[in-house]
Amino acid sequence: MEQIEVQTEFAKDALHGLSAKPKYLSSKYFYDDRGSQIFQDIMRMPEYYLTDCELEIFQTQKRSIFEEFVKSSDGFELVELGAGDGLKTKILLTHFLNQQVDFRYAPIDISRVAIENLVNDLNKQIPDLKVKGRIGDYFELMKEIEINGYSRKIILFLGSNIGNYSPEESISFLDNLKAVMQNQDMVFIGFDLKKESHIILNAYNDPHGHTAAFNLNLLQRINTELDANFDLNNFSHKELYNSDSGTAKSYLMSKIAQEVNIQSLDKTIHFEDGEKVFMERSQKYDLEMINKLAEKSGFEIVRNFFDQRQYFVNSLWKIK
Ligand SMILES: C[S@@+](CC[C@H](N)C(=O)[O-])C[C@H]1O[C@@H](n2cnc3c(N)ncnc32)[C@H](O)[C@@H]1O
Repeated sequence: MEQIEVQTEFAKDALHGLSAKPKYLSSKYFYDDRGSQIFQDIMRMPEYYLTDCELEIFQTQKRSIFEEFVKSSDGFELVELGAGDGLKTKILLTHFLNQQVDFRYAPIDISRVAIENLVNDLNKQIPDLKVKGRIGDYFELMKEIEINGYSRKIILFLGSNIGNYSPEESISFLDNLKAVMQNQDMVFIGFDLKKESHIILNAYNDPHGHTAAFNLNLLQRINTELDANFDLNNFSHKELYNSDSGTAKSYLMSKIAQEVNIQSLDKTIHFEDGEKVFMERSQKYDLEMINKLAEKSGFEIVRNFFDQRQYFVNSLWKIK
């Protein structure tokens, strides 16, 4: 497995975000070892409906998904960007293998522990599966997606990971993806759909405190890796949802006026009482937004797979 260096980039991005007005931190840094563990707790809580929806889609529609993926007898490289623990993907992997199609699974994740655990699990649970895990930023690694002798690739981007990006960032992400795709390749994207505000807010303002812990863990990571002195008790998690735009945003709010020292950056950051640090966007979509996104980025929708409640859609795209 290959590892790319993100440590200095972390310092640079933390400095940039905490010096900005308004302050922000990049959500890609959530996933250190502890952050990846907390995210698994989030995925497994009943309020985080996204996991159940995508599980339901894969369990009930894996045959149709397979038919769309395997239109010809050619094998394929199945690349997954931000694979996490692969909980839902394993349903597809097992089904595909049972259909005796030739493919290799190539998960990419920025979290070392996520990829190591996933590859170990797969070797034990699905020993016949060909797997090549890679650790690093998918923006970097997607430039060198290999197809390992296969004539085509299918790229998975699940869990509404795309919702973490602004409309402009999503288009630039999809442009980069298109640049490494050929006409016969496809991308399968999970989108969380707009729904009643309270359902969305419950998923992020969860009663177990996992989402708060997940956000606060990034301050802990700055403490550990950049030698800072954030007191986590002086910050609280806040989630806001705009039902018109469909944008949910996570913030950490300073409970008091305070100074935080980041020693390795030789920088003191001042926080006002009540000042917010923007942590993560979780965009919710309607079909018009998804159609527009596909169109603007030069893709065409092959087929949409919805869960029964129409909370979520997995959308299969090819280049237009
Ligand atoms: C929202 S989770 C989704 C996990 C999985 N796809 C799922 O649906 O359960 C996001 C995953 O993407 C990974 N990730 C986030 N930003 C990344 C980046 N820039 N490069 C590679 N992996 C990234 C995280 O480590 C995490 O495992």
